[in-house]
Formats: sequence, C-alpha cells, structure tokens
Amino acid sequence: MQIVAKNLTYTYNPKSPFASHALQGVDLTIEEGEFFGIIGHTGSGKSTFVQHLNALIRLTGGSLTVGDYDLSQKKCKFIELRGKVGMVFQYPEYQLFADTVEKDVAFGLKNFRKDLTEEERTAAVREALETVGLDFEAIRGKSPFEISGGQKRRVAIAGVIVTKPEVLILDEPAAGLDPLGKQELMELLHRIHGGWCKTVVIVSHDMDEIAENCTRAAVFSEGRVAMEGTPAEIFARSEELFALGLDVPLTAHCAMLLKERGIDVQTNFTCADFADKVLALWKAKGEGTHAQ
Ligand SMILES: Nc1ncnc2c1ncn2[C@@H]1O[C@H](COP(=O)(O)OP(=O)(O)O)[C@@H](O)[C@H]1O
Ligand SMILES: [Mg+2]
Repeated sequence: MQIVAKNLTYTYNPKSPFASHALQGVDLTIEEGEFFGIIGHTGSGKSTFVQHLNALIRLTGGSLTVGDYDLSQKKCKFIELRGKVGMVFQYPEYQLFADTVEKDVAFGLKNFRKDLTEEERTAAVREALETVGLDFEAIRGKSPFEISGGQKRRVAIAGVIVTKPEVLILDEPAAGLDPLGKQELMELLHRIHGGWCKTVVIVSHDMDEIAENCTRAAVFSEGRVAMEGTPAEIFARSEELFALGLDVPLTAHCAMLLKERGIDVQTNFTCADFADKVLALWKAKGEGTHAQ
C-alpha cells in the first residue's frame, strides 16, 4: 500500500491559547516495500504524522491515502485500516496489560480477525512470538511483568505484527536499548520487512540507525518535510542538517574530517561502505597493505 500525504495539517487544542500547530503542510509519499525513516527534532511533528497513518489521529486538514483507503472520507473503513497498518508506540512495553504473554499478543487478533478459530489464533500467536525471537512454549504462560525489558518490547511488537499488517510503523523502536539491543532490534525489523510486512516506517533521531537501515527517509522540521531522499542524499547535505539542529552519522563526520585533510571519500554513509571506500582509496595510492 502506497502512502500519500498532501498538505497535511494538524493543530492540538485549536482555538485555545495553548494551540500547537504540530503539522503545517506535510507532503510525503512512501512507496510500498520501503524501509522508510522519519527523522527530526523533538516536537517536529513525527509522532503526530505517523499517528495519522492508521487514523489514531483523525484527519483535519489536507489529504491522506493509504492504499485504497482515503482517510479524508467519513465512510473510510477505519477499523479495517488499523488491521493493515500496525503501530508500535514508543516504549511499547508499557502498554502490555494482560495476565499472560499469550493473551496480550492475541488481543489484536480478537479485534481485527474475528473470523479465526481458537486453534488458528494460537497458531498465529505462536508464529508472531517465534518471529520476534521468543520461545512460544516457554513464554506463553508468563506474565508480561515478569519478563525482561528486551522481551517485553518483543512481545509488544509480536502483538502488532500478529495481524500481519501490510505496513508496520514504529515510533522510536530502539529508544532506551543498549547498542547490542539496538542491533538485534534492527535485525528483527529487517526479518519482518522481508516477510510479514511489506512496508516498514521507523521514527528515529539516531542518524546512524537511519543511514544503516533505511531505503529512504524524510527530515521533519516545524511540522513540514524539510528534506527527503535516500540516506546518502540526505547526509551529503550536512550543513543543512546542522542548521536544523540535527546531527549526521558517524561516517559523515569521518568523511568531513578526511575532506579537511584533502581526502574526498564518496560514501553512502553506512559503516561497511565507508570502510570499503577508504580501503579502495588507500590501495589506489599504492601505499601497500601495512598501516603507516
Ligand atoms: N497530545 C498533545 N497535546 C498538545 N500538544 C501536543 C500533543 N502531542 C504533541 N503535541 C505538540 O505537537 C508538536 C509536535 O509533537 P510530536 O508530533 O509529538 O513531535 P515529535 O514526535 O517529532 O517529537 C509539539 O509542539 C508538541 O508539543
Ligand atoms: Mg515523538
């Protein structure tokens, strides 16, 4: 399902002295099959935007279509849409509530897939938990409150992918995880992207995460899309990012330092590509294979 937003606007507490113009004309198209990144400063409208995509926030200005669903229409089938566009909130582990992991994961199915038998439901819960890397038999009967933080986050993701949404949206999915936890989470999202969900959209303020994982990204600033493109296109515009108060990936910093020293490395800003390009330059200079 292609996502097309045109001139999307949204104001919290309109007509009050506390009005907050969260979205001020977002134009953005996300193609089916992308692993899309949304970057931006705190308060730039990222969460408000993604919550529009499964109608958690109803459209008040502009237009938005997700596949065949036109969210500007009152007759839009919002419940059906929510089964196809899954949303994992920031710190989703705080939203676990049932007395067992199995019941928690099954909750979404009961809402969106009323057609399933008890057995089909159990099979779907098993598949979702195994996909996020958990042992179904070992964890199904546990309380969500007695498992580790990393497991809780996986259970929360299982509870969203269990309905097999076509689009999976995650708001700051790696927030608060250590480097290994972040890496494992990204590997999990790539597994899901290949199989369960055609399109994955992540909100992140970690530029390395965007550079390493996304096919394309958009930079939000003051409720609008300030920049859009592949990570390589975006991170080549470091001056503009700094002007927006944003950072660049570590590889971009290294490329800038090398440039100041007269070495121009054309990289796509992933670590592997950066290492390859530096190595190629080094070899081309005929300096042998020993570090000086
Ligand atoms: N529930 C809310 N009530 C009032 N204002 C809000 C609410 N949620 C967000 N805002 C405001 O809307 C703007 C955009 O917020 P948000 O979409 O959460 O940005 P981001 O996710 O990029 O940090 C900010 O100014 C924020 O203070
Ligand atoms: Mg946010």
